Amino acid sequence: MSCPHNNYREMEESIHTDFKEDMSYADYLCLDQVLQAQQPLSTQHDEMLFITIHQSSELWLKLAGHELSEAVSNIKNADFGHAFKVISRVKQIFIQLTQSWNILSTLTPVDYLKFRDALGHSSGFQSYSYRKLEFLLGNKNAKLLKVHQSNEAVYQDLNQVLHQPSLYDEVIKVLAKQGLQIDETVLARDFSQPYQKNNSVLKAWIEVYKNDEEYFQLYELAEKLVDIEDAFQQWRFKHMYTVQRIIGNKMGTGGSSGVSFLKKALDISFFPELFELRTHL
Ligand code: HEM
Repeated sequence: MSCPHNNYREMEESIHTDFKEDMSYADYLCLDQVLQAQQPLSTQHDEMLFITIHQSSELWLKLAGHELSEAVSNIKNADFGHAFKVISRVKQIFIQLTQSWNILSTLTPVDYLKFRDALGHSSGFQSYSYRKLEFLLGNKNAKLLKVHQSNEAVYQDLNQVLHQPSLYDEVIKVLAKQGLQIDETVLARDFSQPYQKNNSVLKAWIEVYKNDEEYFQLYELAEKLVDIEDAFQQWRFKHMYTVQRIIGNKMGTGGSSGVSFLKKALDISFFPELFELRTHL
């Protein structure tokens, strides 16, 4: 019987304890591999936080890519219900990722400098899960594949996503299928190129928003996309701001100008017309 007085919980007889044959929690999750993957290169206490925050972010980024790939195929198959579900999940993943900057902010510039040299030229800029996500959302840039040349499997995967229609490209096809007039140049564009704002797409979205009841599903989809961009931009901003707090205007380990390079990413919109239409309502 549980006893509230002795601050102690009895082990229950029915609890499984023999995992010589049975699959355990650690077996299922490959925890030996995961928990041995934190290998600091310096003797500095704070390097563990730095590694942990990167590794956990990488897991979330990988999951976000998994979910967004699903959203792209859902939209392709006109399965809006499932698309909404996974897009909402991606938004929450980004909120979670943005929150993690607050933990990293406990790393002071002095703490970081003690082990920064150990990183060499490695940088989050080389994160392929992040790049895949940017490509899936439509921020295409073939030059960014270069840093992945030494990893054939990753290179091929990213190259494939670079050339395929992004989430927004698929959404624009839906606009056309629902009878809204979209320029052929947009529908048959080279998907490996960055998406350029287009007037026919803007007009179509204005039509959707002005007739929200008639186009309710598209209207809901558009607002979900805005949610994702909002959450993504908050991550970008918090990254840039945390970096500024930790390294000021120093160059990045990846070789860029650092904060000023990160600031330029804030000007990139995945769904430019969805923001512009607001001015025209
Ligand atoms: C002390 C902590 C950090 C610093 C000082 C830092 C600094 C930078 C800098 C300066 C860049 C630009 C590229 C370069 O020259 O290196 C960059 C890019 C990047 N970092 Fe970080 N970062 C930090 C933590 C993180 C964490 C925890 C993540 C999580 C995965 C991350 C992910 C990225 C990504 C994805 C990029 C590419 C962004 C883009 O292409 O716009 N960074 N970082």
